[in-house]
Amino acid sequence: MNKTEFKRRRNQLMKMIGKGSIAIVSSAPQQLRNRDVEYPFRQDSDFLYLTGFNEPGAVLVLVPGRKHGEYILFCRENDPEQETWHGRRAGQQGAIEHFGADDSFPIDDIDDILPGLLEEREKVFHIMGRYPDFDSKLMGWVNQIKAQSRSGVHVPYEFVSLDHLLHDMRLYKSRAEISAMKKAARISVKAHKRAMQICKPGLHEYSIEAEYNHEFRRHNAQHAYPPIVGGGENGCILHYTENSEPLQDGDLLLIDAGCEVDGYASDITRTFPINGKYSAAQRDIYQIVLQAQKAAIKKVKPGNHWNDPHHAAVRVITKGLIELKLLKGTPAKLIKEHAYRKFYMHRTGHWLGLDVHDVGDYKVGDQWRLLEPGMVLTVEPGVYIPANSKGVHRKWWNIGVRIEDDVLVTPNGHEVLTAGVPSEIKDIETLMAG
Ligand code: GLY
Ligand code: MN
Ligand code: MN
Repeated sequence: MNKTEFKRRRNQLMKMIGKGSIAIVSSAPQQLRNRDVEYPFRQDSDFLYLTGFNEPGAVLVLVPGRKHGEYILFCRENDPEQETWHGRRAGQQGAIEHFGADDSFPIDDIDDILPGLLEEREKVFHIMGRYPDFDSKLMGWVNQIKAQSRSGVHVPYEFVSLDHLLHDMRLYKSRAEISAMKKAARISVKAHKRAMQICKPGLHEYSIEAEYNHEFRRHNAQHAYPPIVGGGENGCILHYTENSEPLQDGDLLLIDAGCEVDGYASDITRTFPINGKYSAAQRDIYQIVLQAQKAAIKKVKPGNHWNDPHHAAVRVITKGLIELKLLKGTPAKLIKEHAYRKFYMHRTGHWLGLDVHDVGDYKVGDQWRLLEPGMVLTVEPGVYIPANSKGVHRKWWNIGVRIEDDVLVTPNGHEVLTAGVPSEIKDIETLMAG
């Protein structure tokens, strides 16, 4: 992503916090896996959004109106020996040259420098509670200034949560962000098609998962979240991630997998028959979910409320389940009583962006948020009927279906970013037969 994109974001944020303020954002810490082995590093999304800087051990400081530079990046120093063992570092020169910092200091010097930057500032904007160690460091720096207050140093007196301003910015995707999300969507689409083509009874859930790893990594993308590859009864476990079982002839396979590109996520679910042909019962449930998804996607347009797609999906699912005699009663009453939750227990979507469950408020005051161009959300209704469900004929058992796509709100309606993976029964069966 272009340097100017990050600069634009920082400038926008600085305008919002105003002169006399300071914003401080920490990078993510490295997480230990065991002994001296670390988990793969994933940058903090807020830090990434404002810097594009993908190293741990860094702190961003924005000081609007500061004469000697408004954007200061603390980061690790260049160190040939450390870099030989652990990989390259941008260093202070790189922070300035490649990441647009006005000034950069070694992270090891932050205790000496940051208190000086806090002096004379009235408001400190900070993401509170995400990294408790960093919170207490900040308090330490403030206390350091307080200790000098008798010599006339001005101590900041207002601490403001940065989350709200920053997360509202993140909710509206720029052209560059939409382009990253479309790229992530394209790669995930390829992976899902590949999975459909390769799937057959006798393979394992993990062998299908491997196809995603292959497709993502060959495009320099990575999983945006742990993939769910659940055959048969495992498709009815919402967060199933073991992906360890054999695939049985006659079962459905539910796959929820998506990659991220430049930190931007895609999030797709498809449910298809392991042997390539939906059974009659599987078809019945699948069609309800597909119709629910279509009705929900139709509701994605500027001016509609966040909850409208969910409402539409709930209506279609409730009516469909009544027709199949899985629910008994009138739609209005069953919806009011949330009877559908026995089979559809999650919501129809979430914001999508740097985080798979992205930031941004869903309500403004007590009203559901209005959809606006540039927002991206998922639409992902489902119906899940585990074995031994009370009062449910066994022909429905172990049918778990979810269909999930990523939808951009456009000025005139919406664009489905992930429409390249078939979701119509005939299209899936044709692709699988190919
Ligand atoms: N993959 C997570 C979700 O669908 O919400
Ligand atoms: Mn999702
Ligand atoms: Mn998903």
